[in-house]
Amino acid sequence: MIIDSLTKITAPPIFYQVKNFINGVDVHIKLEGLNISSSIKMKPAIWLIKKLEEKGSLVRNKSTVVCSSSGNLGIALSVVCKEKGYPLVCISDPNISSFSEKYINLYGGKIIKVTKKDENNGYLGTRLKLIKEMLDNNEEYVFVDQYANLDNIDAHFLTTASEIFSEFPKIGYLFLGAGTTGTLMGCAKFFKTYSPGTKIIAVDAVGSVTFGFPAAKRLIPGLGTSSAPSIVDASFIDEILLVEEVDTIKMCHNLLENYGLFLGGSSGSVLQGIKQYAKNIVQHAIVVTVSPDFGDKYTNTIYNNEWLQDKFPQIPPMELFNL
Ligand SMILES: Cc1ncc(COP(=O)(O)O)c(C=O)c1O
Repeated sequence: MIIDSLTKITAPPIFYQVKNFINGVDVHIKLEGLNISSSIKMKPAIWLIKKLEEKGSLVRNKSTVVCSSSGNLGIALSVVCKEKGYPLVCISDPNISSFSEKYINLYGGKIIKVTKKDENNGYLGTRLKLIKEMLDNNEEYVFVDQYANLDNIDAHFLTTASEIFSEFPKIGYLFLGAGTTGTLMGCAKFFKTYSPGTKIIAVDAVGSVTFGFPAAKRLIPGLGTSSAPSIVDASFIDEILLVEEVDTIKMCHNLLENYGLFLGGSSGSVLQGIKQYAKNIVQHAIVVTVSPDFGDKYTNTIYNNEWLQDKFPQIPPMELFNL
């Protein structure tokens, strides 16, 4: 394939099949780390910028793009903005990985990290408050609001969901992680329309307030929020599963050790969600999930024994490789 613009394409769909993952269930994992910018976030980044341009909100040589991101949207927007010529300011927090910071900086994006926690022990509320102040004081700032903009849902309805459906028209269970819920809602709306028999199962982190559960401290970026996104609509979702970060970490190491899959934290969470739900899965049903990124951004955290000893001392190092 020859391309003339990074901002027009995402990677062709690739599914990795894990046979007999648990209780005889085969799982098909859609590998979104293959996109340019190395995550699923290239899809909303391309679509959200295109829509803002079409609406006339984003103007070249005038506007500066502002986003709130724990890493992947910031990276994807840095690629899109570099190609299109928009300055980018990414509002993030201490949980962003050094890999993501470096990537955004290499593409010319500026990062501002908030350090004060919001009332739900996370940073999203503080990030959004800062962005509001920035927008109030500078009309050249244009906020790519992935938590409230329905275009985030459309981006996945038109790409992720339709790609999954083309490959697997008869899915029994589709497991999707919930961050902004763009992926989840885009797929849920698509499958409720074209394959209403497919069970849509949301996987969120323990401590996330997205579905109204109690807030708690979280360290792994990707899934979960401390301020519920307004685009979420639980009426499209059949089940909500919560995963402990410690189980996410164990699953990431299990996938690496036993399947040679080096995946990011949210991928570990969705596969852990499948493990937790496995007893409910009907025999021979097709099970699909989405891996938003690979493990390369997590070599200083999830895949680093020092970090693990510090943050999760309850996981003995040897046990990580013996699941
Ligand atoms: C690694 C990773 N996984 C999962 C998600 C969640 O995707 P969504 O925001 O579409 O819910 C994100 C979002 O940033 C992410 O970066």
